[in-house]
Amino acid sequence: MDVEILGRVLSTLPDGDDHPYRSGPWRPQSVEWAVGECEVIGELPTDLDGVYLRNTENPVHPARTDYHPFDGDSMVHVVGFRDGKAFYRNRFVRTDGFLAEQDAGKSLWAGVAERPEDALRQDGWGARGRMKDASSTDVVVHAGVALTSFYQCGDLYRLDPLTLDTVGKADWGGAFPAEGVSAHPKVDPVSGELLFFNYGTESPYMHYGVISPDDKLVHYTDVELPGPRLPHDMAFTENYTILNDCPLFWKPELLAQGVHSARFHRDMPMRLGVLPRRADGGDVRWFEAESTFVLHFVNAYEDGDEIVLDGFFQSDPEGRGSVFPGDQSYARMFRMLSLDGLQTRLHRWRLNLVTGRTTEERLTDSITEFGMVNAGHAGRPYRYTYASTGVPGWFLFDGFVKHDLLTGTQERYRYGDGVFGSETAVAPRVGSRGEDDGYVITMTTDMTEDRSECLVFDATRVGDGPVARVRLPERVSSGTHSTWAAGAQLPGWRTAEDPAAAVGLSTP
Ligand SMILES: [Fe+2]
Repeated sequence: MDVEILGRVLSTLPDGDDHPYRSGPWRPQSVEWAVGECEVIGELPTDLDGVYLRNTENPVHPARTDYHPFDGDSMVHVVGFRDGKAFYRNRFVRTDGFLAEQDAGKSLWAGVAERPEDALRQDGWGARGRMKDASSTDVVVHAGVALTSFYQCGDLYRLDPLTLDTVGKADWGGAFPAEGVSAHPKVDPVSGELLFFNYGTESPYMHYGVISPDDKLVHYTDVELPGPRLPHDMAFTENYTILNDCPLFWKPELLAQGVHSARFHRDMPMRLGVLPRRADGGDVRWFEAESTFVLHFVNAYEDGDEIVLDGFFQSDPEGRGSVFPGDQSYARMFRMLSLDGLQTRLHRWRLNLVTGRTTEERLTDSITEFGMVNAGHAGRPYRYTYASTGVPGWFLFDGFVKHDLLTGTQERYRYGDGVFGSETAVAPRVGSRGEDDGYVITMTTDMTEDRSECLVFDATRVGDGPVARVRLPERVSSGTHSTWAAGAQLPGWRTAEDPAAAVGLSTP
């Protein structure tokens, strides 16, 4: 391997840190690496062309009091594939909060398991305020730029998708909303638009917006909710956007005292809000459905008078049945993290635009979450999703399932003892002629071999195991959200000034 250390950031974490989510598979990194040509076991397909990007919650300072795994600073990993070779980089996102804490040498803001008044700084970000905008939740590529986001709402940080240099924040000509943007903005592969929402503690409690393919804010509207909510994801079809009002929210009586404690209200329905893509938020049509909380939707599409919406229904949104196998003093804080605790199952809602009725069905008894699809089918009819399986009690993925929604069949792959994966992005083959004509990619944390790899599966036969494994220079922390961007979407991917050359790949 042609390995270069790009830099090291200040970490004040203690030696021998025993926090359950800062040790073992979550041991954070402080080194930034670049590998021009990675060692590959197996053979990388030459029609795999583009980048796999993964965001990671990677803390570098002890929390003020209680660290939660959603608080860590953003580290993005990129594995680029071209001409049967792979390059790798990892970089911290230089958020305002990260830079301020590097200067201070300690945590300045409160995390999700702490009280806002625990923060040393009076300012901050997040729907509840006085949090650090860690930008460590999600990553998408829009208009040739990688955008990282934060689930509690904040800025969208702009990264060069090859070098991972932080190149500023989304500004949208000065129109970036003061309320911030939530994780899980969506890119429409046909129109090139970016759709987003945010949420907060003040009326109207949600906003929704549209960014044009050339990165301008072209629509922004209030969406009135009955009170503060904790939405995490959204969905879209060719003509409609689907927002949600799940009955899991901060306890109002405690919120008034500044305490942020979420409760699920099983006696209240979930509401799914449908509005034409650029309509006024007052035109949202709400559809009631069985009570649940949906962390992630998979996809949505139009089918005659109906909108078909697929996502993960939680039978136990408070994770009361979760059994945390580690230090029991953490059991309460972490009970909402495991897939088995939440009982997450693939589910379909059909929203009839003529009758206003909702029909719904469980698609499988298997417990999976974090379903990925071929992004070329986003918002359109589709057949396959690749979703992760979880380690009981932990926020860890031990394998994934390819769900065939047409036949109802499943194909499974398990990473192996002590090996944990991340979200399984779909990379269509160059010249792809079908939805699963391509590859499935994930990044592993292997505690048995003390290393990390990027695995490449043939999407048509994932159960056979990876066709190639790309060795990374260091064991990386477990992480979740990822995306794929084809080389053809990336500026400069094959020019003489190709940024890939700067990380050691020769240009053809
Ligand atoms: Fe998410």
